[in-house]
Amino acid sequence: MSASTPPAFADAAQTWNKRFSTEDFIFGTEPNEWLREQAHVWQPGQRVLCVADGEGRNSVWLAAQGLRVDAFDIAEVGVAKARRLAAARGVQVNYTVTDCDSFNYESGAYDGVAAIFVQFADPAMRERLFASILRCLKPGGVLLLQGYTPKQLDYKTGGPPQASHLYTEAMLREALADFEVLTLREYEAELKEGDRHTGISALIGVVARKR
Ligand SMILES: C[S@@+](CC[C@H](N)C(=O)[O-])C[C@H]1O[C@@H](n2cnc3c(N)ncnc32)[C@H](O)[C@@H]1O
Repeated sequence: MSASTPPAFADAAQTWNKRFSTEDFIFGTEPNEWLREQAHVWQPGQRVLCVADGEGRNSVWLAAQGLRVDAFDIAEVGVAKARRLAAARGVQVNYTVTDCDSFNYESGAYDGVAAIFVQFADPAMRERLFASILRCLKPGGVLLLQGYTPKQLDYKTGGPPQASHLYTEAMLREALADFEVLTLREYEAELKEGDRHTGISALIGVVARKR
């Protein structure tokens, strides 16, 4: 990790390794619903990056759809579980344990990026992360993003407690100015994603194409 870009909270790896240190998959082993619904934007054989992929539910599912998948996460315990899930499902995913500021984002390499619940990022880190995502996509490559809106602070059914980490439509449209936003949906839904994302939730989902 570079000295100039520390993670949003100093003990991110330790915190998440502790959360993942259980036999259960804390977000479940099925993919995020927004991802499942929207992943038809990518075709089998295309190359996709899953950022902060946790225990691998999304990367493994995407690989099973025939995509070539790279994934990273700061938590080695989560990545170890992801590797086990991939092996159990008989799919290949290229995993890396790294902080999102240190991942080697290959320029123009990916047809897609999946950024599902990456709201550990404070505004400064989010700006760097979105810039890296933009850079690593090919022109025409598509970002699938899912996060919580500030209304989630009332529901408390998952996500960070800091309002500045949450997404509003206006904030995302500004942050994604270099993308063509194909779909932006603010909605509420009952999530059943393991123990940590369960119950009525205030969500926002984005499908955006690099210009
Ligand atoms: C809410 S979980 C979502 C995991 C996964 N995207 C999913 O939908 O199942 C957030 C993830 O971000 C990872 N994370 C936290 N800080 C990070 C950082 N600075 N760089 C990379 N990953 C980070 C955590 O280890 C955790 O796996």
